[in-house]
Amino acid sequence: METWDAIRSRRNVRAFTDRPLSNEDLNRTLAAGRRAPSSRNWQPWDFIVVTDRQQVADLSTVGRYAAHVASSAATIALVAPVQRDPAQRDELQYDLGQATMCMALAAADLGVGSGHAAVADQQRAREVLGYPADRFCAYLLALGYPSDRPLRPIAHPNRRPFAEVVHHGRW
Ligand SMILES: Cc1cc2nc3c(=O)[nH]c(=O)nc-3n(C[C@H](O)[C@H](O)[C@H](O)COP(=O)(O)O)c2cc1C
Repeated sequence: METWDAIRSRRNVRAFTDRPLSNEDLNRTLAAGRRAPSSRNWQPWDFIVVTDRQQVADLSTVGRYAAHVASSAATIALVAPVQRDPAQRDELQYDLGQATMCMALAAADLGVGSGHAAVADQQRAREVLGYPADRFCAYLLALGYPSDRPLRPIAHPNRRPFAEVVHHGRW
């Protein structure tokens, strides 16, 4: 897929078919996250990949809006170091966003849908994923083939108008 088509095709997918992902596609998606830029090349992330059916079902209980994780072919948990300093926390969230988007676009390029999920219950996430005490699970990215319709460029996305968002020179 062209980059522009992948950007226009990506959407948050919340229902997946039971078709598994190939290791090649999964690894390419993870490699895209690893290549993401980060502040001072900090690379604060670790990615835990979950494909086991019981484990994805367990993960779907870590947040009120994580139910779609249960039907994913694979879910990537973005795990990061706990930060006390607010400036560092902001940098971390920016970096995690970039890694997430790199993975979502790499997946879309392969026709694979992705869906974010916020993690409210850290204790439950830690039980399922076993990451150390100085880390937290920032987000889950559920992956799989969309069960509604294949990814294709969205002509009219649900977004604020271009002219409202874009400012030239000054606000
Ligand atoms: C930081 C962040 C957290 C999100 N958390 C959730 C979530 O917990 N559950 C969910 O279903 N969608 C989640 N989303 C998806 C957004 O709701 C979605 O991207 C947005 O509505 C735009 O829709 P689109 O991605 O299909 O264009 C999250 C997105 C982001 C960027």
